[in-house]
Amino acid sequence: MSTAVAHPNIALVKYWGKRDDSLILPLTGSLSLTLDVFPTTTTVVVDPHAEADQIVFDAAPATGSAAARITAFLDLVRTLAGTNARARVDTRNSVPTGAGLASSASGFAALAVAAADAYGLTLDQRALSRLARRGSGSACRSIIPGAAIWHAGLDDATSFAEHVDGPDLGMVIAVVDAGAKAVSSREAMRRTRDTSPYADAWVHAAEADLALMQQAFAAGDIGMIGEVTESNALRMHAAIMGCRPPIRYLAPQSVALFDAAARLRAQGLQAYATADAGPNVVFVCPAGEVDAVREALTADMPGERLIAARAGAGAHLVEVTA
Ligand code: PMV
Repeated sequence: MSTAVAHPNIALVKYWGKRDDSLILPLTGSLSLTLDVFPTTTTVVVDPHAEADQIVFDAAPATGSAAARITAFLDLVRTLAGTNARARVDTRNSVPTGAGLASSASGFAALAVAAADAYGLTLDQRALSRLARRGSGSACRSIIPGAAIWHAGLDDATSFAEHVDGPDLGMVIAVVDAGAKAVSSREAMRRTRDTSPYADAWVHAAEADLALMQQAFAAGDIGMIGEVTESNALRMHAAIMGCRPPIRYLAPQSVALFDAAARLRAQGLQAYATADAGPNVVFVCPAGEVDAVREALTADMPGERLIAARAGAGAHLVEVTA
């Protein structure tokens, strides 16, 4: 029995678009912060006598596409391990699933670490990152503690995440809507590539933003990290809004929260907004200002559900005592 814990990550320079749908190779590199909140805990037990994988997702049997995705991922692990043995998987998310709070990242990072161990594979951090990537692209970054850069790479071997040194950052998550999103990021990425007139512009902008972000990390320049973060998120959403039929993840409340970030900066706080494929908004700030940003947001927009987060651990095995 192998149990692993992983946390979601929030990208400061986003991954949006695949070069290879089956290997999940991204069009561009990305950079994120793995958080210390909303862990996913996953247990994998190999059962040589079972005829099929048994998957329990948040205490209920998984069916349909959720189960198919996990079985397809286990097939990859079985190929690496040279076995056909089925497994029992029990996964518990404390992230609202499908709400743009990166549940697929923590989910596949935890599954990669637990399944690799259960099937007897010895994989280093890079191999685990490459494996997690095959479940959900952004999961390759949740293998890594704190700040992580995902190198786009040229092929399966060169597309992985690793730690990047930089200033100590924190985040404040504003939960606008914890329900599942209407269009999955997988479908929306495809539609952006196929129908958005801004798809190529996004790729060029993301490459330039990643280079700037790496400079900002090396210099420890939180102002520059924040400015690139906020504008990169809006550039991604602009490309997404260019789809036909259109997709719009940002709600009126999300836009209001971006405005709140500007007001917080006017008060002297270093707070910058970002949003993934959903309406929730995440504020990036120096780790030492997390509580001040949370308090200022509560005063500015009373009634918001706000969660403070800091840099968290990479996906790792845990001992479970029965
Ligand atoms: O890994 P996926 O397929 O869930 O895509 C994640 C995409 C964003 O969260 C919007 C951006 C990112 O880099 O995490």
